Amino acid sequence: MRIVVTRNLPEPALELLRSAGDVRVSRQDRALEPAELRAAVVGADGIVAMLGDRVDAEVAEAAGPGLRVVANVAVGYDNLDVPALTGRGITVTNTPGVLTEATADLAFALLLMATRRLGEGERLIRSGTPWSFHLGFMLGTGLQGRTLGIIGLGGIGRAVARRARAFGMRIAYSGRRRAPAEVEAELDAEYLPQAELLAEADAISLHCPLTERTRHLIDAAALAVMKPSAVLINTSRGPVVDEAALAEALRTGGIAAAGLDVFEREPAVHPGLLELDNAVLIPHLGSATVETRTAMAVLAARNVAAVLSGNEPLTPVGA
Ligand code: GLV
Ligand code: GLV
Repeated sequence: MRIVVTRNLPEPALELLRSAGDVRVSRQDRALEPAELRAAVVGADGIVAMLGDRVDAEVAEAAGPGLRVVANVAVGYDNLDVPALTGRGITVTNTPGVLTEATADLAFALLLMATRRLGEGERLIRSGTPWSFHLGFMLGTGLQGRTLGIIGLGGIGRAVARRARAFGMRIAYSGRRRAPAEVEAELDAEYLPQAELLAEADAISLHCPLTERTRHLIDAAALAVMKPSAVLINTSRGPVVDEAALAEALRTGGIAAAGLDVFEREPAVHPGLLELDNAVLIPHLGSATVETRTAMAVLAARNVAAVLSGNEPLTPVGA
């Protein structure tokens, strides 16, 4: 069995893959260009892919008829053309669950950074600007009693809601589906139509996948509905937000602040955002802990090993 890995993985995952086949790891430790990816996968029975690797019909064609599994080392899989792959009988897998807590921690860190102006404070000190404690210095806003609006109350959205409850926040949510009654009860979460959620929330945190339905879900019109005091947090996918419209809303006081872990044209960031003190900008670190990245890679490897040995995948998508 030939297993092609598009970027280096933690050793425990590579070990698992080596027990399942002949492993080839791309020497470029970055997302491969389409032509590079097609060249790399020739003859592959399994592909381990990740963010930025566009795996579509052409890549499947390039791999050849032996390709049986594409394992994404991510919970999001908008980089894969799932119908094109599953339509060819190829199993597609992602890594749900193992990154839920790390991503929720990061979303909450962004919420605290944005509301308490922590990036701005860091920059102030590092710039050598004189400062002293006084009662009106760099005031932010508290979270207690405020409403967190979660768009997409899946695993990560729920984990963020639990943190927010511990901070005394009220939880409202919207999304394609209503959460089960026991989840609503546990979080004391109120389901609202999206327009109402946007209008009522003091902070909005995005936890939906990127699909045609969610592309630019937060556009100029949505931002205009939000409170001028509201904060937007995005740890999902950059294109869920119209970044130019967000930069404009942050610049003109349409909303108060944003905390972004993901960008529309990643790794590029809209130049308008770079100039703004009320934008917290983090380089896609949602799942970036040693434990979580290892668990993600191992889960992807277990999916590949399962499929190549004729067993059911652990975490298939689009099945
Ligand atoms: C990372 O962004 C992921 O989808 O896991
Ligand atoms: C602030 O540092 C305080 O002591 O209240």
